[in-house]
Amino acid sequence: MAEMFDSFKEHSIAEFFKKNRHMLGFSGKVRSLTTVIHEYVTNSLDACEEAGILPYIKVEIHSMGDKYKVVVQDNGPGIPRELIGKALGQMLAGTKFHRYMQQRGQQGIGAAGCTMFSLLTTGKPIHVISAHNGTAVSCDVSIDFKTNKPVVKNIVERPATFHGLIIEGFFGDVKFDKGQYGPLEYIKRTAIANPHATIELITPDGEKYLFKRSIDRVPQKPKEVKPHPLGIGPHDLIEFAKASNAKKLSSFLINDFSRVTQKKVNELKELLPDIDFNKDPKALSWQEAERIVKAIHKIKWIAPQTDAVIPIGKEQIEKSLNNVLKPQFVTVVERQPRIYRGGIPFVVEVGIAYGLTDESFPFKGSVMRFANRAPLLFDAAGCAITQAVKSIDWKRYNIQNFDEEPIAVFVNLSSVHVPYVSAGKQAIANEEEIVKEIKNGIMEAARTIKTFIRKRYKAKEIEKKRKALLRYVNRLSEDLAALSGFSQEELKQKLMQLVEERYKLGGG
Ligand SMILES: Nc1ncnc2c1ncn2[C@@H]1O[C@H](COP(=O)(O)OP(=O)(O)OP(=O)(O)O)[C@@H](O)[C@H]1O
Ligand SMILES: [Mg+2]
Repeated sequence: MAEMFDSFKEHSIAEFFKKNRHMLGFSGKVRSLTTVIHEYVTNSLDACEEAGILPYIKVEIHSMGDKYKVVVQDNGPGIPRELIGKALGQMLAGTKFHRYMQQRGQQGIGAAGCTMFSLLTTGKPIHVISAHNGTAVSCDVSIDFKTNKPVVKNIVERPATFHGLIIEGFFGDVKFDKGQYGPLEYIKRTAIANPHATIELITPDGEKYLFKRSIDRVPQKPKEVKPHPLGIGPHDLIEFAKASNAKKLSSFLINDFSRVTQKKVNELKELLPDIDFNKDPKALSWQEAERIVKAIHKIKWIAPQTDAVIPIGKEQIEKSLNNVLKPQFVTVVERQPRIYRGGIPFVVEVGIAYGLTDESFPFKGSVMRFANRAPLLFDAAGCAITQAVKSIDWKRYNIQNFDEEPIAVFVNLSSVHVPYVSAGKQAIANEEEIVKEIKNGIMEAARTIKTFIRKRYKAKEIEKKRKALLRYVNRLSEDLAALSGFSQEELKQKLMQLVEERYKLGGG
C-alpha cells in the first residue's frame, strides 16, 4: 500500500499543457497552424494598441518538407530583454493576467504555448528578435517543462533604429489550408475587425495577400478598471487577494474593487459578523471567500462603469466589411454597453453583409465570431454567438434558408473579461445576458436587411415586367403605324417612354 505514494509528484503547468495541448487549440493539423498564427497576431495587435502604434504585421508561412516555418513580424514596442524569456517561454506569465482591461490576450499562455508546440513537434526553440528602446536582442527561447521556467540561449545584442518583435518558429503536425479554418481566413477576419491594421500574409505557395488598413487612427486605448464586486466569484476573490498589497481585508475590498466604500464594507460586516475584516486578505479561506461573494449579492451596488469597453465602431465595421467582403449591402448595429454576471461590462456589435460573391467570400450562411476583435474560428457549436444566430427565425427577415444564402453575420463582443469556454479561447460561454444582447443586435440588423431584400425583390419584379412590355413595343408600334399611318419610329419612342416612366426602378 505504502508504495502507491512513492510516485506522488507535483507537476508544473507546462507539463500539464504538454499533456493536454488540445486545450490550447493544438489539435488537428489545420487548427494547430491557425492557433499559432492566432496567438502571435493577437499579441502583436495588443502590443501595438497599447503602445499607440498603427500595426503593420507580416505573417510568413514556409513549407519545409513535412514541417512549416512561421515568421510573424510586427512594428510594436518589442519586449525588454529581461522579459523575453518569461513572455515567450513561461506559462501564465505576461502583462495582461492581473489586469481588468479590454485586450485580446488575458491568460499569459498563448505565446509560451506556441513555444511548447514547436518543441514538441520539431524539438526546436523559438527564434526571437526583439527591438525595444533602441536595442535589438536576438535569442532562442525554449521551456523547461519540469519547472515551467524559460530557457534563453544565444543572446546577441545590437543597436536598433527600428522597434518591434520578430518570432520565427518551426512547427510539425500542422497543415496549411485555404479553407474556412485556415490562416488565410483567420487573417482576413482579423483585418475586418481591425481596420486600423495592415496585415500581410505570405502562403507556402508564395502567394501574397495584403490587407491594407482602411483607417489611419489607432483605436482608443482601453482603460484599466477595477472589477465590480458583482462580477467576481470566490476563486477570483482569492486570486485578487493574493496579488493585492492591502494589509486588511476591508482595505483590500475598498482598494481593489470599484464601487466598494467603507459604508459598503460596513454593510458586509453586518451580514458576516464572524468574519474578521482586519485580517490579512492573503489568509482568506475558500469558505470565507464564498460567504463574502454571497453577501455581496445581497446588498445594493451602483452599477459598474461601462466606459472601459470600447467597440470597433459602426463606420469602421461598415468600411471594412465593404472593403474585404465586397457585398451588395451592409448594415451594422452598435449596441449600448451592458453588464453580465451583475458586474462585468460588455458591448456587442453586429454587422450583416448580404449579396456576397464567390470571389470575395465563397462561404454561404456564414457566422463571423469575434471577441475583443480577435476572430473565433473553432468550437462554434458551444459559442454564445452561434446560439444567438441559431435562435433567429431568419424567414421573418426574408432569408429563406440562412445556410444557403450569400450572407455573413459579423458579431464582435468587447469586454474587459470575455467568458471563454476554455483556455483555447475559441468560444464564448452562454452567459444569459450576453446571448440575449447578441440576439437583440442581430434582430436589429436583420430588420434593415429585410427591407433591403424586399426592395431588391421588388426591383427585380419591376425589371421583369419592364422587359416583357418592351418586347411588345416593337410589334405594337409596327401594327399601329400600319393602322394609323403615323411614323413607326415616333410611336415606338412614345410607347417606350410610357413603359419606362411606369416601370422605372423604384417606381411602379
Ligand atoms: N508581439 C509582442 N510585442 C510585445 N509584447 C509581447 C508580444 N507578444 C507577447 N508579448 C508579451 O508577452 C506576454 C505573454 O504573451 P502570451 O500570448 O503568452 O499571453 P497574453 O497575451 O498575456 O495572454 P493569452 O494567453 O490570453 O494570449 C504578453 O502579455 C506581452 O506582455
Ligand atoms: Mg496572447
